[in-house]
Amino acid sequence: MRELLRARSVPVPAADRPRRLRRTAALRSLVKETRLAPGQLVMPLFVINGRDRSEPIESLPGQARLSVDLTVAKARQLAQLGVGGVLLFGIPDRKDDDGSGAYDPAGPVPSALRALKEAGMPLVLAADVCMCEYTSHGHCGIVSGGQVDNDATLPLLAEAAVVYADAGADVVGPSGMMDGQVAALRAALDAAGHTRTAIMAYASKAASAFYGPFREAAGSTPAFGDRRGYQMDFSNAREAMREMELDVREGADILMVKPALTSLDLLARARKRFDVPLAAYHVSGEVAMLEAAAERGWLDRKSAGLETLTAIVRAGAGIVITYLAADAARWLREDPAL
Ligand code: PBG
Repeated sequence: MRELLRARSVPVPAADRPRRLRRTAALRSLVKETRLAPGQLVMPLFVINGRDRSEPIESLPGQARLSVDLTVAKARQLAQLGVGGVLLFGIPDRKDDDGSGAYDPAGPVPSALRALKEAGMPLVLAADVCMCEYTSHGHCGIVSGGQVDNDATLPLLAEAAVVYADAGADVVGPSGMMDGQVAALRAALDAAGHTRTAIMAYASKAASAFYGPFREAAGSTPAFGDRRGYQMDFSNAREAMREMELDVREGADILMVKPALTSLDLLARARKRFDVPLAAYHVSGEVAMLEAAAERGWLDRKSAGLETLTAIVRAGAGIVITYLAADAARWLREDPAL
């Protein structure tokens, strides 16, 4: 029997043995093509008013809405771990139809930006620019006649961006998927003297089922309808390229793709086509899936988490916005082979 098998097997050509380079941990490390670094990770943080307030977010285990003082404490830990930056989302005490809290200089995000700036931490300070956390109806813009009014929303987004830049934001991230939002922000920032404030455009943002936990955290679930009238159809890749093209032309410094795992092909295409830094947002629902499976013992949180982040970078993202930023930075520091 054994004789028979040996006689029939085709010899493996000497040059075709890729396993040679997988033999030891040292060899594997030497030939590793994609390496994660803490400095490319950005942690989203939800900021609320008050002092010493921490409200856990049920669907994002380990994450909480934090008051400004606790946001600063959290950012200090992140800086010590070597994380690259923070992306701030504000949750106001009161929401209204026009989302006026978005551009309130005394709101949670500007307050946190001033406090973080004062603390002088080596982190990139980024602020999300959108209306949905601030509007009573939960949509990303001004609603008139049951529709989100694109052009009426632009000045409000621009105002918010200027308020955040005034407060010390290094980067503003328009996420409302309004047409022309990057151009509107660039013009307003420049007019206010903020020529050095960068724009990270949520260029290709799909109307996704994976934002659920974020909406729980921000209380931003639309009160009626959904976001498909402004966020992109996840079926469309050419349209995603067009969105990115427009944002580059409007002055985006960084292009962002979101959600990350359902857009790996878009990242790969964008990496070939555009010469600006690319970011991917590993969104709340993607992390929630991992957390839920890990909690049940169905997945190993650390290895599944690192594999996920590595795949996002391998696809083309140089920056990854992820709720795993702190843990991943810790894992990377603990294990030099990673
Ligand atoms: C605001 C915004 C959302 C996310 C980032 N910015 C929610 C949405 O569009 O409904 C989602 C992020 C996440 O799920 O982690 N427009």
